[in-house]
Amino acid sequence: MIPANLERAVYGLYATHALHVADGNGVFDHLVRHGGDTAGKISAALAVDEDTLERLLLVLSSFGILDADDGHYSLAADVRPYVDREDPRYLMGFVGHLIGSTTEQFGRLADYLEVGKAEADRDAPAPFDTLYRDDESVGRFLNAMWSLSHHVSHELAALAGLEDSRQLIDVGGASGPFSVAALRAFPRLRSTVFDLPQVGPHLAARAAEHHLEDRLGFEAGDFFRDPLPAGDCFAFGYILSDWDDETCAALLRKAYDACAPGGRILVMERLFDDDRSGPPAAAVMNLSMHFETQGRHRTAAEYLELLRRAGFEQGEVRRSGGDKHLVIGRRADRGSER
Ligand SMILES: C[S@@+](CC[C@H](N)C(=O)[O-])C[C@H]1O[C@@H](n2cnc3c(N)ncnc32)[C@H](O)[C@@H]1O
Repeated sequence: MIPANLERAVYGLYATHALHVADGNGVFDHLVRHGGDTAGKISAALAVDEDTLERLLLVLSSFGILDADDGHYSLAADVRPYVDREDPRYLMGFVGHLIGSTTEQFGRLADYLEVGKAEADRDAPAPFDTLYRDDESVGRFLNAMWSLSHHVSHELAALAGLEDSRQLIDVGGASGPFSVAALRAFPRLRSTVFDLPQVGPHLAARAAEHHLEDRLGFEAGDFFRDPLPAGDCFAFGYILSDWDDETCAALLRKAYDACAPGGRILVMERLFDDDRSGPPAAAVMNLSMHFETQGRHRTAAEYLELLRRAGFEQGEVRRSGGDKHLVIGRRADRGSER
């Protein structure tokens, strides 16, 4: 008998594809709307082949995505928000990215294993030159970041407690998933997203959508070449995991220099367990960061150490109920600076 953990690892490929196909063919939309149905009724409603559909439904049931009761299929209650397009937790866009983009990257592992990433990628373009190769790619990437980051940002903003902050600088803030959540929670706060010029129109569209044009601004720049705007709170959401330790240290030092005395820095990232034995999402995304960026995922202690080296004090970790957590550092008040 194959052990259950090995069985899930081996057959997980089928589950990811089944999720993607079910989502793309409207199966989840149907189940969200109708509560549950037989394969016959679902296939008739969606005009798809019943035999193929039922095999797909059986895979999803075997992985606990669906509840099956005497040929009647419904969404497992805890899964439903993540497959419902109307819910901010909708995760199937990310599954599309895994199937459409990540899968083809696995081929590069052989080269990485043989000669190392630095050598294998010697002539490769910089990560954001590839991700932002045309307008459509910029839009697709920023939408993916919005769905990954916006929902949890409400919790992260509350955990950060920004009552005393006045000017947030959202470094690499994309189309504003964190800024929008923070501005809605803290009415006296203003935010500037500092990001590459291609991002500007997407941030302006989100600011308008959320009626935040007067408090949410954009400054175009390159955080490797340009100084950061001044503020009393700096957000780095999924930025440090794109870069190596040396690059992170330089970015954090820039933030320290631009931060008002007494101000704070908010690093928001996935966190490896202390012994790096999990969670699985951090481990698999750590492999993805290897293909797609020049970074990696870290433990809370590693982020605290990066903050300490940049000069930030009173490092603290606050965990959300999701995958993205908060590591806070503080720039000392003027009187107590070293
Ligand atoms: C992984 S996304 C993170 C987006 C957002 N902060 C979040 O938490 O979802 C990285 C962001 O860094 C920005 N970025 C990459 N290189 C940059 C650079 N050299 N200067 C400024 N921003 C940059 C990208 O445009 C993108 O918005």
